[in-house]
Amino acid sequence: MASFWSNLKRPFSVLAPMEDVTDTVFRQIIARYAPPDVFFTEFVNVDGMCSGGREAVIHRLRYTDSERPIVAQIWGLRPENFEAAARDIREMGFDGVDVNMGCSVKKVIKTGACARLIENPSLADEILRATMQGAGLMPVSVKTRIGYACRKTVEWAGFLLDHNLAALIVHGRIARETYDVHADWDEIRKVVSLRDRMKTSAVVIGNGDVTSGEQVRRYADIYGVDGVMIGRGALRNPLVFAAGERQITTLTVGEKAAMMREHVTLHRETWKDRKDFNVLKKYARTYISDFKGATDLRRRLMTATGYEEMLEILESQIKKQ
Ligand SMILES: Cc1cc2nc3c(=O)[nH]c(=O)nc-3n(C[C@H](O)[C@H](O)[C@H](O)COP(=O)(O)O)c2cc1C
Repeated sequence: MASFWSNLKRPFSVLAPMEDVTDTVFRQIIARYAPPDVFFTEFVNVDGMCSGGREAVIHRLRYTDSERPIVAQIWGLRPENFEAAARDIREMGFDGVDVNMGCSVKKVIKTGACARLIENPSLADEILRATMQGAGLMPVSVKTRIGYACRKTVEWAGFLLDHNLAALIVHGRIARETYDVHADWDEIRKVVSLRDRMKTSAVVIGNGDVTSGEQVRRYADIYGVDGVMIGRGALRNPLVFAAGERQITTLTVGEKAAMMREHVTLHRETWKDRKDFNVLKKYARTYISDFKGATDLRRRLMTATGYEEMLEILESQIKKQ
């Protein structure tokens, strides 16, 4: 399937979907400072999207043109809802739709969704066919893992690549593995070789434990992937996709505080009272780290009770510089 994926310059970088982290606000901040080549939304439940609960999930599909190309990630159980959601997403102007077959959070997999689909290829097949039907010409990708309870990288990737995907994103862990276990990039390389043997046009993207642009290029070289997806590395360093030396660690304290002020201001403008103010606190460690007094400043930010107080704390830090 020809798509924007095949036109990207190799190796390309992708911002990973991260629930309650990579909303449109954080993506816009990343886009302003150092954009990746592709953005992903947080995952959105199709069964929620196609029900009375739509309002509760649809905010996850909010985006601006600065975040392009942008792929909407979906998950759920009912194939007919995947079809309707993919059609909806196409009409909203997204560049692609991705089916989550990798999330291993307990409350999700106990429903039979996401990574659990690795053990249920017949439902996975129905879901992919339905998504493609709804997507029309919009490219469809899958983000997955190398197995559920044990590794079955080649068997599972072969099954997925038989579905005419535009892209396959492989997180190099099985669902049962936590972040304590290193992502296995040798397994990801097997998917690249399989794709080449199968002569499909899907691009293969590796994911797991990458934290710099230099590592993106090195891993693409060593493991042959077309692109690399970064998740936690972007939460720790929103400048992770920068081409040069400028990273969050090289910013002055004033610049770090100003960057967080920008994030807080944009969050308030974007979400008003539709999102809890407290979600902003998870970004305190992102911006306010690696300098003398950071712990104390973070503590003050963590106890702030509203936008005004948080902005005042940041403002006084900026003025001090
Ligand atoms: C807070 C958090 C939320 C996540 N939410 C999603 C999600 O919505 N969809 C998804 O496919 N993966 C999700 N992931 C997994 C990441 O996309 C990524 O696959 C994983 O963190 C490994 O990449 P990394 O080592 O670069 O972080 C999430 C990870 C984190 C830490």
